[in-house]
Amino acid sequence: MSNYHIKHLEEYYQVYRKSVRNPGAFWEEIAEEHFLWRKKWDNVLQWDFSKPEVKWFEGAQLNITENCIDRHLTTRGNKTAILFEPNNPKELAEHITYNQLHKRVNQFANVLKAQGIKKGDRVCIYLPMIPELAISVLACARIGAIHSVVFAGFSATALATRINDSDCKMLLTSDGSYRGAKTIDLKDIVDEALEHCPGVTRVLVTKRIHATINMVSGRDQWLQPLLDKASNICEAEIMNAEDPLFILYTSGSTGKPKGMVHTMAGYMVYTAYTFKNIFQYRENDVYWCTADIGWITGHSYIVYGPLINGATTLMFEGVPSYPDYGRFWDIVQKHKVNQFYTAPTAIRALAKQGAELVEKYDLSSLKVLGSVGEPINEEAWHWYNDNVGKKNSPIVDTWWQTETGGIMISPIPYVTPTKPTYATLPFIGIQPTLMDSHGAELKGNQVEGRLCIKFPWPSMARTIWGNHQRYKDTYFSTYKNQYFTGDGALRDEVGYYRITGRVDDVIIVSGHNLGTAPIEDAINEHPAVSESAIVGFPHTIKGSALYGYVTLKDTGESRDQDNVRKEINQIISEHIGPIAKLDKIQFTSGLPKTRSGKIMRRILRKIAHKDTSNLGDTSTLLNPEVVQDIMDNAL
Ligand code: WTA
Repeated sequence: MSNYHIKHLEEYYQVYRKSVRNPGAFWEEIAEEHFLWRKKWDNVLQWDFSKPEVKWFEGAQLNITENCIDRHLTTRGNKTAILFEPNNPKELAEHITYNQLHKRVNQFANVLKAQGIKKGDRVCIYLPMIPELAISVLACARIGAIHSVVFAGFSATALATRINDSDCKMLLTSDGSYRGAKTIDLKDIVDEALEHCPGVTRVLVTKRIHATINMVSGRDQWLQPLLDKASNICEAEIMNAEDPLFILYTSGSTGKPKGMVHTMAGYMVYTAYTFKNIFQYRENDVYWCTADIGWITGHSYIVYGPLINGATTLMFEGVPSYPDYGRFWDIVQKHKVNQFYTAPTAIRALAKQGAELVEKYDLSSLKVLGSVGEPINEEAWHWYNDNVGKKNSPIVDTWWQTETGGIMISPIPYVTPTKPTYATLPFIGIQPTLMDSHGAELKGNQVEGRLCIKFPWPSMARTIWGNHQRYKDTYFSTYKNQYFTGDGALRDEVGYYRITGRVDDVIIVSGHNLGTAPIEDAINEHPAVSESAIVGFPHTIKGSALYGYVTLKDTGESRDQDNVRKEINQIISEHIGPIAKLDKIQFTSGLPKTRSGKIMRRILRKIAHKDTSNLGDTSTLLNPEVVQDIMDNAL
């Protein structure tokens, strides 16, 4: 019997040891017993971090949707697979059973096929959090098309960049979306993006808000009539273990977003196994992850992980503040949610509203609380533990990344004793290391360094779409034979990990990773701007917010600075999305630069943190005089 469900700490240690002593044999056992394969693998693991190349379960054949849906039909056909809670609490929730999901995914898959989509084609999905989003993801997987979901809060420019980077042929969208009291004209954004995407020849539009929209003839079609005509039987395409399942973009510290490529078998095995253990999911539980499917958390822990385990996964269309800040708790009460998984930024925003809004609701169904996306601060951890969990529901602070596909460091609830702000222990099969600045591994406990992983795990991204060299440079070149995460971490006296945050130029704002370079590029498009630099600074709700240092061109005219600030944020919204807007914009006479012309962000970061007592070595600066000027005018 494999150790699919871990129930106590001793067992965790025993299984962990087994998983690192002989990883191949360990994962083989898990894979054998808990998944549906069309053909078993010839070789469980082949890897070489210097290339880098990682292959799990090579030779195996499968279709992940048969694991998510078909194999549950005999035992769970009438069980709710997706529980959809609409934006408007007055609108009825929708229970989509496994039987219904099967029909709807197959129908959608047949529509895709009829529109000429084949195995290996890329399909961009730009949809709000409505059932069609999950269904279209699965429909792509059914026929072997590679889905690339773009978060529906991204702007037209950001959408176009992602579509073109992976040569998507088709786009799936809706006539608009609801977001609290507002509606958003998604289709307008799509139309604008597609002006720059000649490769997209077909657009299928789902009706959600019933808005009158522009339909481009020959390109755009309403989805529903096509579904109505389609058969609800669609043979699953048989896929190889290492065929790509999806591309998902994440920000890098420089350059354009990175299209992380995840493949079939390893991703399936690892997301399923982590889901089962980290949420201690039991039959008949109702599990809710508040993320958007546009992010990796939604891919792995709203869609794939839960469905592979035959779970009921709740999908929420709305926002935590609508109709008021009690909405999350209202949903927990209404659907008797057992596992609740959210982000520290949401916890902080809700904590600010006071505990009364939580106390109004019956949250006694809750058994596990999760956190993801950024370090959770001590205050938020306690608020969550005391007010939501009533000190009865363990908090799983789960550390992982778009690149890792699944949760890497996390407590197992009711198994691992928790410690505020600590993600605690590596999950089964995960071998983290901490490296010092000279590239040596820090052994033992009570050390702090840069977090790496020294052995492959099944759900790691295999490459960056179209740019394997960048994959190698970003993740496998900083430290020899190690996957470098870009995060700093410390290991305490018992071996628990605490993630201290990014050590590169990625800034996490409200749980969203933002690279500084694309934002600076956007700012520099403003005709009055000569140059700019962005850093993060602490923010009580968002975790970090953005501070921009902007030098204006010396044109002799005086400018209305408030107006320029507004215009800069407008440009950022258009290029990236409203999430990337700057909280503070300081106009400077120049930016501190090294003699080689590099902006010294370290200094700018300290000024933004109001930590100027020791700016470190400024002797290498080309223009040390600007530092005083920036400090004097800091916001
Ligand atoms: C950060 C989200 C501390 C980290 C799944 C990582 C965290 C980046 C945690 C990846 C956590 C995520 N504690 N930091 N529990 N979870 N992070 O790709 O910096 O959107 O590298 O994946 O978020 O963000 P991504």
